[in-house]
Amino acid sequence: MAELFAGLMSGTSLDGVDGVLAEFSATGIPKVVSHAYRAFPEALRDELLALNSSGPDELHRSALAASTLATLYVEVVDELLVLAKVKASAVRAVGSHGQTVRHRPTLGYTWQINNPAVLAERSGIAVVADFRSRDVAAGGQGAPLVAAFHRALFGCAGETRAVLNLGGISNLTALLADGQTTGFDCGPANVLMDLWSLRHTGQRFDADGTWAASGTIQPPLLEVLLKEPYFTAPPPKSTGRDLFNAHWLADRLQRHGVACSSEDVQATLCELTALTCTRAIKAHAGDASELLVCGGGALNKHLMRRLAVHLPGMAVRLTDDRGLPAQHVEAAAFAWLAYRHLHGEPGNLSAVTGAMGPRVLGALYPA
Ligand SMILES: Nc1ncnc2c1ncn2[C@@H]1O[C@H](COP(=O)(O)OP(=O)(O)OP(=O)(O)O)[C@@H](O)[C@H]1O
Ligand SMILES: [Mg+2]
Repeated sequence: MAELFAGLMSGTSLDGVDGVLAEFSATGIPKVVSHAYRAFPEALRDELLALNSSGPDELHRSALAASTLATLYVEVVDELLVLAKVKASAVRAVGSHGQTVRHRPTLGYTWQINNPAVLAERSGIAVVADFRSRDVAAGGQGAPLVAAFHRALFGCAGETRAVLNLGGISNLTALLADGQTTGFDCGPANVLMDLWSLRHTGQRFDADGTWAASGTIQPPLLEVLLKEPYFTAPPPKSTGRDLFNAHWLADRLQRHGVACSSEDVQATLCELTALTCTRAIKAHAGDASELLVCGGGALNKHLMRRLAVHLPGMAVRLTDDRGLPAQHVEAAAFAWLAYRHLHGEPGNLSAVTGAMGPRVLGALYPA
């Protein structure tokens, strides 16, 4: 019998919450039945961003932010139910990722602000949360966690395919023809472009990449940006705002030392995303027949064009072409991870995260 699960994702871009309600057949493959999105109110976004670095009274402020976040999550779940015309009692569980404010797997932790108890209480639906900690406890990076889902959904026997998620951070899943899967975070996708756009144009993001397209790539600056050791470190690896943030960019612009126009910097940041992703793809899925792109960055037409330029001979397309809209993939992955939890099945791929083995991920908050 088909089962309904919801998934909620609010990622490093700090743009808002994506939610999907998905129907799982006995094969465990989801079909999205509704999608809802809520942008973060300005004050919440600012507080979440502030909580990414150390500051006063963090425990108290995190708890308050988690409650505000949970209220938003409840609204998204309510909307998913209304759109799909189903009752809360028909949904087995919500997979709720929470909001990452620190990701330090090498120090033994990754921290997502979340209040699953409030979400369970107010939605009347069981919640599975804290997916990453168990993988970290097993020696893994706790990220990226979407690789197993990408394999289940987009894998094709005998064919190599690459899946690239362009959120705040970019992550690659290489689905190899022999059935092996590798993957890791490539580097910044939108996080630096977004902060540069906000600072110089007042816009939260560069819609369609139009502003980046109006600038000229500055090779010497690009070279300075590419010197970041993370880009050439071997996988398993994962990253976040802990590394790629305003300080990182200011430091590199200072090292470069030559003044550039703001649109030239944006063009160069876009190229940094395109190059770090395509180098990773060539190194780990060079024989892929197609690259499937998802996440908000898939809407950046200039970035999509730059990916295609660097990957001649590879079909660069949206996951929409393989049955799941680019904006639904990450939230659907957390619905899938909740499904796996309730079925007692592992959610991680140790070949990707570096964990000691497969683990059932998350903690359950009953309805
Ligand atoms: N029309 C658009 N043109 C260009 N960029 C866009 C557009 N729409 C969204 N984006 C980019 O996508 C980002 C949001 O993407 P998404 O929600 O996938 O990232 P995320 O929240 O960091 O998720 P995750 O961590 O799960 O990957 C925005 O911050 C913006 O940079
Ligand atoms: Mg988002």
